[in-house]
Amino acid sequence: MHDEGHVAVIDFGSQYTQLIVRRVRELGFFAMLYALEDFPNIGKPGAIILSGGPKSTSDADAPDLDFEALKAFEVPVLGVCYGMQLLNLKFGGTIEASDRREYGPANLFPEKAEGLYAGITKTSQVWMSHSDTVKIIPDCAEVIATNQHGTPVSLQWGERFFGIQFHPEVTHSHEGNRILSNFLSEARNLMPFRIEDFKREMIDNIRETVGDRQVVCGVSGGVDSTVLAVLLKEAGVKVRAIFVDNGLLRKNEAAEVQANFKRMGLEIETIDASDRFLDALAGEGDPEKKRKIIGNMFIEVFWDAVGDAQMLAQGTLYPDVIESASNAKSKASVIKTHHNRVAKILELQAEGKVLEPLAELFKDEVRALGTSLGIEESILMRHPFPGPGLSVRCPGVVDRERLDIIRDCDAIFIGKLKEHGWYDKVWQAYAGLIPVKTVGVKGDERSYEWATNLRAVVSEDAMTAEWVDLPAQLLRETSQKILNEVGGINRVLYDISTKPPASIEWE
Ligand code: XMP
Repeated sequence: MHDEGHVAVIDFGSQYTQLIVRRVRELGFFAMLYALEDFPNIGKPGAIILSGGPKSTSDADAPDLDFEALKAFEVPVLGVCYGMQLLNLKFGGTIEASDRREYGPANLFPEKAEGLYAGITKTSQVWMSHSDTVKIIPDCAEVIATNQHGTPVSLQWGERFFGIQFHPEVTHSHEGNRILSNFLSEARNLMPFRIEDFKREMIDNIRETVGDRQVVCGVSGGVDSTVLAVLLKEAGVKVRAIFVDNGLLRKNEAAEVQANFKRMGLEIETIDASDRFLDALAGEGDPEKKRKIIGNMFIEVFWDAVGDAQMLAQGTLYPDVIESASNAKSKASVIKTHHNRVAKILELQAEGKVLEPLAELFKDEVRALGTSLGIEESILMRHPFPGPGLSVRCPGVVDRERLDIIRDCDAIFIGKLKEHGWYDKVWQAYAGLIPVKTVGVKGDERSYEWATNLRAVVSEDAMTAEWVDLPAQLLRETSQKILNEVGGINRVLYDISTKPPASIEWE
């Protein structure tokens, strides 16, 4: 736990709170997110940021914090949106509640090109998302920036309390990083965030915690579990890496994962449990039941193989920790939580036998750690792949025939994305199956076959996603190749649905 000299971000519930933490880390300083209930138990921070939030300060249950405790830290404080309004109230000002929402871009007019606004362009675009505004500004405060209408959007109270109405953490605030960086330069002795230092610390911790016990970890071939396994190897502890083939993997995936690990000097134990999974799934068409069958079977197969574990390592990431703490859960994190919190694991946890070395890192930081561990770029840049595998890409019943068709279509699509230089530009892409038969013509004969859906999205955190405007030529070549080579398919569709309301997967 790093709790000295860090930037403590206090969560008032804004959807952007995690982004603030990420931005501060990108600027090279260590930041941690704290639930409001934990305040003031936030260690000895070097700076504090109060996040935005969905409530109005005039709500009966408006979130509040102990102002005397906040002042007692004697460090620079930045209030963002709700955080700014709360500070204004605390310093004796008022807030005007409003039902009208200002959402979108605004222009920033700093009073002086110094302090928070050193080097910031006049009229710089900032992103607004709020209803309430500050009304009475107390004598101790100074307006340090306004918007294009002359409305105050940034205040400073005394030497070290700052407030901004806009969101510097979103990319639509063009100079948001610079403003955050200016704020951080008000702080003294901030703890730097460097992945190399972090790696050394993690390795020392792992060695100390594990000693000569054997650590078991599950690997999927994905980024998190691969980095975890390599980190354990680097720490020189005894590792058993187990890979479960659930029969729902992509074309040649099991062989590729094995080959990848072999190149990295780490043997993995592969358990081919395809038959067990597919038999258990036979005839089941309900999405949630399918998920449950797969989840339970994974636990059964994995723990059968593990036997009595001395220690278990999990690739839990910081967003999982934050999300299970705040209960704001995405589907993926609920599922993960489900896997990571089974009785057996809780038991091991109580005995201090669960290791989660990546629990303070975001995904892109895990990638950076992977690079510094010498893991190949192609592994680190792999698209995410869901735990229930191809099952969620085949609505309704799954069987070997359907899975083989998906594998072939998917391999063609991914191959074309790579060939055209688009694989690294999209966040996730795949081909799925729509098991609905439609009429077509193949080689002078009537065909009556299924359709495949191609999906390619960009996303930051999987909570929202946009479909990618792929070049027509890429789609044309993919479609042609699928229609020529994959039996059972006579129609290729491109999914142009955003999330929400659609999800990335079809189930
Ligand atoms: P959806 O379909 O909910 O997917 O928009 C969001 C992201 O999560 C992945 N996903 C899962 N990952 N277990 C996982 O480990 C699951 O059950 C699961 N369902 C979806 C999906 O691939 C996408 O990246």
